[in-house]
Formats: sequence, C-alpha cells, structure tokens
Amino acid sequence: MKGILLAGGRGTRLGACTWVTSKQLLPVYDKPMIYHPLSTLMLAGIQDIIIVCDADQEQQYETLLGNGSQLGLRLTYRSQDKPRGIADALIVSGNDIAGSKTCLILGDNIFHGQGFVDYLRQGAALTEGAIIFGYPVADPQHYGVVQFDDSGKVISLEEKPQSPRSNMAVPGLYFYDEHALEYARELTPSARGELEITDLNKRYLAEGTLTVIDFGRGMAWLDTGSPEALLKASQYVETIQARQGYYLACIEEIAWRMGFITLEEFTQSVKRYPGTQYGTYIATLAAEATHD
Ligand code: G1P
Repeated sequence: MKGILLAGGRGTRLGACTWVTSKQLLPVYDKPMIYHPLSTLMLAGIQDIIIVCDADQEQQYETLLGNGSQLGLRLTYRSQDKPRGIADALIVSGNDIAGSKTCLILGDNIFHGQGFVDYLRQGAALTEGAIIFGYPVADPQHYGVVQFDDSGKVISLEEKPQSPRSNMAVPGLYFYDEHALEYARELTPSARGELEITDLNKRYLAEGTLTVIDFGRGMAWLDTGSPEALLKASQYVETIQARQGYYLACIEEIAWRMGFITLEEFTQSVKRYPGTQYGTYIATLAAEATHD
C-alpha cells in the first residue's frame, strides 16, 4: 500500500502565516503539522509515501524531510499547480500509485487515541473497496457527513450539507483499493470547482464496496485549519506530552518502533535536533533502549 499525504491548499484562514509557507509546515505546539499525518501513515506500516503540495513549497518539504531515508521511508514529492480538490491528489500521484492500494491522508488532520493503530491495521489490510471513518462532531456542516441506518449500514454521504442528517463527520483518512485512480479520473468538479473526495467515496458506496468504521467518542480527531483549531490542537499535544512524558508524532520514534530504522539510526537522529526538547526526548528514549 502506498501513502498519499495531501499538503497543498492555500490555508487562507491562517493568513498571514500561510502567505510565506504551507499550512502543513506551521507548528502544532512543538513540531511541524505534517509530522502528525506522516506519523499516521507510518503507524499504518506504509513506507512509500507521496507528498502532494503546491509547486512553490516543494523545496520546503524536501528541506524538512528529504527523501525519507533517515526514517526508513521512500518519499516522493508531486506538486499541484493549483488546488483542484482532495481527489485530485490521486490523479497528481498518477503513475506512482497505478496498480497500488492507497491510503490518503489530509495534511491538517491529527488523530490520537488508544486503539487508533488497530483501525489503521484494518485499513492497511484492505483487499477490496474503500474504508473510511466516521467521527461525532458538534459542527458536521463543515465536513463530509455520513448517515447510518439502525443496522449500521451507510445510507448517505454528503459534502458539507447545510442540514446534516447526522453528527458523524468523515475525517481526512481514506483507504482505497486499486480502482481509486480510475474512479478519481472519472469525477467531475463540484460547484466549488473541486474534485470532491466525498464524490469518490460515493462511487465506492454505489459499487457496494464502501466500509465506514465509526471511531466512536474515545478518540481525538482534530483539524487545524483555523487559528482557534490550531491553538486547540497545540494545547492538546502539549497537555498529553506534559502529562505522559511521551511525545505525539515523534516520527523518528515511530520509525524505530515500527522497525523502519535501527536503534543505532534512531540514536543518531538526535543530531538533527540540537538544542530542542524534541532532541532530548529522542536521546532519552535511545539511551533507555540501549541500556535495556
Ligand atoms: C475536507 C473534505 C471533507 C472532510 C474534511 C476532513 O474538507 O472535503 O469531506 O470531512 O476534509 O478534514 P475541507 O478540507 O475541504 O474543508
């Protein structure tokens, strides 16, 4: 399975910060936002990842993450000349994903919680169709919305409905079989001129191969598209890290624990973060593991 991380878009609501850099490079407390969706893909066991971004920001992503080898990853960068919608990320990835199953994640979506990795494993084990998720939110009108019947069967999927039929939003994490690229190419732009991911999911629904898994209330799904949401996400990360002493989205730790890099490589990765608490965290974990 290949990962697609969509890090494009203008981040309009976060201007002026996003006039000079990409939203997904802004900090969520102590690290660049993109560390979170990258962590999610890594926790799903995915090592081949295409980062889709705006052409003028590709260099910044490369400076941050390189070719990914330090994390045991193979990162490829593809650029969108203008934002054409989430489903366009599949088309932009084109040849890179032809014949592959994919996991698409939005670069501004943060997931955290006990059991999350089990959901990821389920997604990564997909053999046919698509797996997406549902999560209860107080403002479903801002998201893709899924409605289930009493037996748990999906009866509708709508993009940002004015009158949502349920409070279940669809987070920006989607697992697809090999047909996603062909289906994406058949989509037509919506009223806002974008290839909607909800339309792709509706295609799978029509084919009878869409599974929607309810994350339930015990998970955190945060987005970071507005100043308030970004602040809340930062506070969430700080709260958990300070309480537990474990970091969220430490990509080097995940690479090591997933077996993508060795303990020696993990230990060496501290050199990238001189003078930071993040570096101290890596050094502490590496020292503990060395003495075990
Ligand atoms: C997009 C999708 C929407 C999804 C949301 C998750 O919304 O279109 O279906 O629920 O991401 O973050 P947008 O980023 O366009 O607001």
